[in-house]
Amino acid sequence: MDQFTTIADQRAWSRAQLLAGKRIGFVPTMGALHEGHLSLVRVARQKSDVVVASIFVNPTQFDNPEDLERYPRTLEADLSMLAGAGCAAVFTPTPAEMYQEGHATFVEVVGPLTDKLCAATRPGHFRGVATVVTKLFGVVRPDVAVFGQKDLQQVLIVNRMVTDLNLPVEVVVAPTVRDPDGLAMSSRNRRLSAAGRAKALGLPRGLELARQAFGAGERQSLKLIELVANELLVHENVELDYCDVINLNGFAEVTTADHRCVLAAAVFVDGVRLIDHIHLDGRAIAVADVDV
Ligand code: PAF
Repeated sequence: MDQFTTIADQRAWSRAQLLAGKRIGFVPTMGALHEGHLSLVRVARQKSDVVVASIFVNPTQFDNPEDLERYPRTLEADLSMLAGAGCAAVFTPTPAEMYQEGHATFVEVVGPLTDKLCAATRPGHFRGVATVVTKLFGVVRPDVAVFGQKDLQQVLIVNRMVTDLNLPVEVVVAPTVRDPDGLAMSSRNRRLSAAGRAKALGLPRGLELARQAFGAGERQSLKLIELVANELLVHENVELDYCDVINLNGFAEVTTADHRCVLAAAVFVDGVRLIDHIHLDGRAIAVADVDV
């Protein structure tokens, strides 16, 4: 696996692949990789000839400097996992390489995708994500880019941005990967103690209870939200950041749920912020399922 730290070197590699007629698949990451990331690499491999991953802890998407500082960094282990998963190249720029002196351009998606959920509680976060993803696309020049469904709002925002800016990239959503106990895989999980993890399990458990209640006929959003809150708020040091029912048709918060709705939540467990959601009809989500 090739590793590039400069934009010029990554660009030269990508140019050579494209000239050779290869289709480039791309998996952008912030490192601290786990099986969920490797599943994205596998999906990218199915859809392309060569896969590039990037590892870059993007400062512009952190609203809290402490969170940026504490973000886990495990480069050596990440590189061997990516090589093992069949990545052809990895782009690992420094912040100074990505944001050069005088950097003054940002990409911002506006509208229903960016006025709720994580966008409401983490101001500026998705502006940073949209900006860095646009920049990474400009360097890596992928034909297809794969993002995890766990970060549903993120992938929908990236897809909106790609459509609006006429970027020649296909955006693909890969299903959320869970540990056997049900917790959605996340780089942040490694910051949980065993006791914290036990509390965090209330999130997937509550979402699953809500899905079952929906299946049994419950349609009131408040009742579904209550099922999640009840699993979490019994614990000390657990705070619900948000919990909402969102219709994928329009990405609006709704008081009455239907088959196009997801129940999405963010929670702080012992200060660690975790997100998860469930499609109330239980299916995985593709970008084509969303109308916004
Ligand atoms: O999902 C992530 O890890 C990041 O938000 C991304 C897409 C790599 C942009 O920094």
